[in-house]
Amino acid sequence: MIPFIDLQAQRQRLGQPLEDAILKVVRSGAYIMGPEIGEFERQLGAFGQAPHVLSCGSGTEALVLPLMAWGVGPGDAVFCPSFTFAATAEAMPLVGASPVFVDIDPETYNLDPASLEAAIVAVKAKGELTPRAVIAVDLFGGPADYPAIAEVATRHGLKLISDSAQGFGCTLSGHHPIHWADVTTTSFFPAKPLGCYGDGGAVLCKDERLHDLLVSLRVHGQAVKSDVEGKTFEHDPKYLNVRIGMNSRMDTIQAAVLIEKLKIFKDEIDARNRVADRYAEGLSDLVKTPTVLPGGVSVWAQYTIELPDDPQKGRDALGPALREQGVPTAVYYPIPIHKQGVYSGYPTAPGGLPVTEGKAGRVISLPMHPYLTQDDQDRVIAGIRAFVKTNA
Ligand SMILES: Cc1ncc(COP(=O)(O)O)c(C=O)c1O
Repeated sequence: MIPFIDLQAQRQRLGQPLEDAILKVVRSGAYIMGPEIGEFERQLGAFGQAPHVLSCGSGTEALVLPLMAWGVGPGDAVFCPSFTFAATAEAMPLVGASPVFVDIDPETYNLDPASLEAAIVAVKAKGELTPRAVIAVDLFGGPADYPAIAEVATRHGLKLISDSAQGFGCTLSGHHPIHWADVTTTSFFPAKPLGCYGDGGAVLCKDERLHDLLVSLRVHGQAVKSDVEGKTFEHDPKYLNVRIGMNSRMDTIQAAVLIEKLKIFKDEIDARNRVADRYAEGLSDLVKTPTVLPGGVSVWAQYTIELPDDPQKGRDALGPALREQGVPTAVYYPIPIHKQGVYSGYPTAPGGLPVTEGKAGRVISLPMHPYLTQDDQDRVIAGIRAFVKTNA
């Protein structure tokens, strides 16, 4: 079987320095908030063009933390796509707020600015929820249309989060999403383009005061610099908890792993782009291959093609046919979030989400990682070509 994602090839490339970095933490005893945490946050900010970075427990908590910092809660609306992983929408109910699902652009699978505008206007007109923020997702690794989305968000006075769990490292006109967004969040789940060896996440931002608040929220609302400045305390202010927070620290071992992985990340993004270019060359005359916005660079978390929504000619037949030839595939995502039971009561953009619902029956993702050999990729391409020609 061709690996869908080859973490072992990456581990071999990283070699002894990676294992030494882990062992160094094990021997140091600084398992929580050790020096690697601050060092990794500094390096991630330099990579992602963000002045402030907070590492945290997961990509899900990275979304919850800024919502908490902004006081988003019951009665508030946060607009997001439905064609995404559940965590994007889950962050809202976790703080008591409501997701409002917006349709996607049919080419990029990312938030459609026109549907966003319509959804905000509809929520305002209804008057039951207060619009507070927008979460754009860089699905499959490609950048959302930030100039257009930020224009809509700013005009309506809403905060903008870029959920770059799949897209950290993607750019548009040379800028990372934080150029337009108030906050970028990411996940270091092992299968992500920049993954660690467990769970982890990060929040990147431009506002020092917001970062300070996030630092407090990450550790049970503990008093931070701005809470204690100019004041004196009878007890160690470390145990002064001034707001409701949580425990969302990233383990030091994961920071040590990520410092090593960051060294090769740019090179891996280039390799993923070579793989994507080759897929496009080999397949785009027969199936719909992905579109990246002009001036955009994807990090290709997934390489997703589309087939007709048809039991014989479609992706549900292609998947098993490829599997027989040792080629794994995956479907992201077969059920849009607004169609899942627990989320079905939340509002959607006026007119519903026809693009999202259409895509869910057609998409299928192919093996994609920086170490995919040309021979293996040729097997994937040949298998798809044979399937499409036989079933045309
Ligand atoms: C778009 C998106 N947002 C958020 C998350 C949540 O990240 P985590 O699994 O680290 O909590 C993920 C991945 O799992 C994701 O793909």
